[in-house]
Order: sequence, then structure tokens, then C-alpha cells
Amino acid sequence: MKIPLSGRLLACCEYIPQGSRVADIGCDHGYLGIYLLKNGIADKVLATDINEGPLQSALRNSEKYGVRDKMAFYLSNGVKNIPRDFDIMVCAGMGGDTMVSILSAAPWLQNTQYHLILQCQSKTPILRQYLWETGWYIREEQALKDGRFLYTVMDVIWQPGHSFTPGECYFPTTLKQNEHFSAYYQWVIGGLEKIVFYQKDQADPFKVQALEELRKKEHI
Ligand SMILES: C[S@@+](CC[C@H](N)C(=O)[O-])C[C@H]1O[C@@H](n2cnc3c(N)ncnc32)[C@H](O)[C@@H]1O
Repeated sequence: MKIPLSGRLLACCEYIPQGSRVADIGCDHGYLGIYLLKNGIADKVLATDINEGPLQSALRNSEKYGVRDKMAFYLSNGVKNIPRDFDIMVCAGMGGDTMVSILSAAPWLQNTQYHLILQCQSKTPILRQYLWETGWYIREEQALKDGRFLYTVMDVIWQPGHSFTPGECYFPTTLKQNEHFSAYYQWVIGGLEKIVFYQKDQADPFKVQALEELRKKEHI
């Protein structure tokens, strides 16, 4: 039985080392964890969601695919009510602001023991800025297309001391050169051009500086 995993979630799986204990935060249907277990990538999965309905659906799917014994289910806002014995935290399909609130409520995650895989649906620059300011380092990011939309997946480790610029919050230097690289640049700079044009003198100086930096990369 094929697991209906989206391209977004498959891209997240690429960053998960064999034998990992994975916490899937906001698991919804639970397919990410099921895929990792069925393919021998994860040994154990903590599936969590803030809502009972999605959690029940993940539980039913784990039974359907025969991996119930390797999954534990927690009703939790972020990582508040879950055990800490995992290696990888995956957070996919949420906005950057939600991810920031999940991470800032859990300073215990700020440790080399934990590795984050983040796939953000919106407000991605806010998330990147938060990560850098806190001490998380995006060691690789890749752009991907899901339907009509462009997203990225971030591979994040705890490594304080990296500096960043406004431009990097919009278009990071660690973005992988794949087939969506140029499209992602065009999409990001197009969005910034519009905001700065319409807001004129009221435009946020952070965004103005980001745009200036990105214009210098026009050869992309
Ligand atoms: C759009 S779905 C994404 C599901 C799956 N991760 C994916 O990428 O396909 C977002 C899920 O996150 C859950 N969620 C939203 N905020 C959350 C939070 N603070 N903590 C845990 N789960 C949350 C929602 O209930 C929902 O099931």
C-alpha cells in the first residue's frame, strides 16, 4: 500500500539520518512518520498535534500501515507535552510565526542533541531571522514546488555564532542550487519589490536593505 506522501514531506525525509528517533510536530495524517518507519529510516516516531481530530487520524493510519507499535501519540501545543527522547524534530506545513512560537516556548531544544527539519508555509523570513538570532544555523535549505507554490525545507542545527544580513533572511546563502533555485529568487525579489514600491517612504528599512542585497544577485 503506497503512502500518500507529498513532495514537501518527501523533501523533509531526505534530511533524516537512518536510525533516528523523530518527533513530528503537527503530524496531521501521520504520513511522514509512517513513511519513515516503513522505509527503515526512523526507529521510533512521536506523532503530535494540537488538535484531537488529526491525531486520531494519524493513529488510525498507523494501524492501517502496520506501524502502530513504533509510534507514540501526544496531544500537544508544539513540544510542551511530549517526552524529550528524540533526535529530530520535524515541523512541516505551518507558518513561520507558529514555528517561532513553538521554538521559543522550548529553550531546552537549544542543544546539539537536537536537529530540526522545518518546512514553512508562510512568513519564512521571520523564521530565518529568529533561528539566526537564537543560535540555530540553517546548514542547508532547498526550494521545492508543491502545486503552484514555492516553499523551502530547512536543515537546522544548534550552532550559535553565525551572523546574518537582512538579504539572507529572504534568500539564504545556504540555499541549494537545484531546479527551483532561480524561480525561488525571482519569487522572493518580486515580492520584496512590490512591498517596497507600494510602501515607498514607509517601507521597513530591513526589507529595503534585503531588497538592495538581492538586487546585487541579479545574475542568478
Ligand atoms: C497544514 S497541517 C500540516 C500537516 C503535515 N505536517 C504536513 O506538512 O502535511 C498543520 C497541522 O499542524 C497542527 N498544528 C498547528 N499548530 C500547532 C501547534 N502549535 N502544535 C502542534 N500542532 C499544531 C494542525 O492541527 C495541523 O494538523
